[in-house]
Amino acid sequence: MARCRFRKCIAAQLSHVLKIPPENLVKSISAVPVSKNRQTAEFQFSMSPILDANSTNYTTSDINLQAEELANKLKCDAVVSQISPGKGTVDFTINRDLLAKTVLQQVFEDGSEYGIKSELFSGLPKRKVLIDFSSPNIAKKFHVGHLRSTLIGNFIANINEAIGHQVTRINYLGDWGMQFGLLGAGFQWFGSEEKLKSNPLQHLFEVYVQVNKASEEDENIKTLAQDFFRKLEAQEEEAVSLWQHFRDVSIEEYARVYKRLGIYFNEYSGESFYQEKSKEVLKRLDAKGLLTKIEGVGKVCLSENGDQVAVMRSDGTSLYLTRDLAAAIDRMEKYNPDVMLYVTDKSQSSHFQQMFQILKLLGFSWAERCQHVPFGRIQGMKTRQGEVIFLEDVLNETCSLVLERRASTKTTKECDNPPEIAERIGLAALIIQDFKGLLSSDYRFNWDHVLQSKGDTGVFLQYTHARLHSLEEICGTVNQGTPVNPACLQDPLAISVLQHLLRYDEIIYQSSQDHQPKHIVNYLFKLSHLVSAAHRNLPVKGSPLELAQARLCLFHAVRSVLANGMKLLGITPVDKM
Ligand code: ARG
Repeated sequence: MARCRFRKCIAAQLSHVLKIPPENLVKSISAVPVSKNRQTAEFQFSMSPILDANSTNYTTSDINLQAEELANKLKCDAVVSQISPGKGTVDFTINRDLLAKTVLQQVFEDGSEYGIKSELFSGLPKRKVLIDFSSPNIAKKFHVGHLRSTLIGNFIANINEAIGHQVTRINYLGDWGMQFGLLGAGFQWFGSEEKLKSNPLQHLFEVYVQVNKASEEDENIKTLAQDFFRKLEAQEEEAVSLWQHFRDVSIEEYARVYKRLGIYFNEYSGESFYQEKSKEVLKRLDAKGLLTKIEGVGKVCLSENGDQVAVMRSDGTSLYLTRDLAAAIDRMEKYNPDVMLYVTDKSQSSHFQQMFQILKLLGFSWAERCQHVPFGRIQGMKTRQGEVIFLEDVLNETCSLVLERRASTKTTKECDNPPEIAERIGLAALIIQDFKGLLSSDYRFNWDHVLQSKGDTGVFLQYTHARLHSLEEICGTVNQGTPVNPACLQDPLAISVLQHLLRYDEIIYQSSQDHQPKHIVNYLFKLSHLVSAAHRNLPVKGSPLELAQARLCLFHAVRSVLANGMKLLGITPVDKM
């Protein structure tokens, strides 16, 4: 059967009357959100874009009048069964049979690409998107900011990839600096090769803390650390090989933990790569007359009112900012991305603004393609052992809390691999908690809220998915070849679910534009609430075959879209819990 694109059909009608090409109208046609005081119309065309074209001041009643006139000129057809003026809109109701048929057909045919094959994405140019995220510092804490960066960066990578962009995931490690001087100098006393092998991140951190403390008490150690770092900067073989060893074992361990999260990187880069290239940046700045030395420190003047930032220490070595400048230039040369995103907490906003500004001063017009994606702070994330130091502590704590709760809940289902299920549920809980609000908002972390099975949590989404899965197990899987009788899906609860499914493409579009996962999260909550009401009131078991089949198809479609959305967020849906 030919695919019916509702927005396209409506745009064609409107185009006829308005004499505007249909492709210019599609974006003004949106699916109406399902609300309690249920509306019947599925789509609305907003009058404002066609009014703006004439750029006169319209009163609300003018606009409503125009909407009414437009509605009168349009005719119902095989697709649209009702056209009525709304507040500044013209509302379209889709033929009820066609609604059920088309939505289900599209969900089944498009599978994981449902919503993405929509006309909303058809004109979208394919881009190269580079995402710098996670980026922890070796031998230091993996703080909650790194956790957020990891989850958010992964989401942004997923959604960009899903809509067809070419994504490169870069982990820009903090793998340079005095902590390596301390490690290099103190490992011989405090380190153990064995511990380094079995638990590298923790061991390096412990050694670092110990040497750091020792160096505060003993000037000799401080000098040794400085010497070691100087050797490292001078690329002396012995020092470099020890540093390389620390870096390698750390990355290996990180990769293992990222794998637990279902996250990978195309490149493990890091500040260490940019020692030499930083010198070139300083040369360029100097050549352009942008570098001033103030008491030996190299600074760049950013504005007329004299704002200055340091790019070179008095001993000639580079700073975080200098290395980031070098890294940006290098990435542009290597990948030539259309978009370069940096995902860190908002305390680094001025760092990135300064960096982008310096790139502009250097004459790199591509600085426009760079963007910082800032996020807020999490307060109060602790484990029962205390402060979170490593990513794995949070994962282990989440997993064990979920296991404890499962053990004390009567409805827990038998499953093959409880730790794996617990891990997936726990991760969903963490991710949803983190993605619920605007990324830039701070929030307070609370295990009890995060792990609640009712209310808007990741546990609830997992539960909904598992429940739909078991429904199919009990009632038989959907035979996608058998046509559904749309007359069986005319109950208002079923219609609401279909209407909500219709909006998925717009939600993906919105999140892909502003990088905010909350649109998808809220969409999935609503989907779960709608389907749970439908599930309660529209039984499959015991209904006549045709009705049972149709309902089962509807529930299967919901499960498929729910799973798609969860996967974009970085969650692996569970089938049982
Ligand atoms: N390692 C840094 C930190 O922990 C984050 C790096 C972010 N990326 C960048 N290109 N600066 O704060």
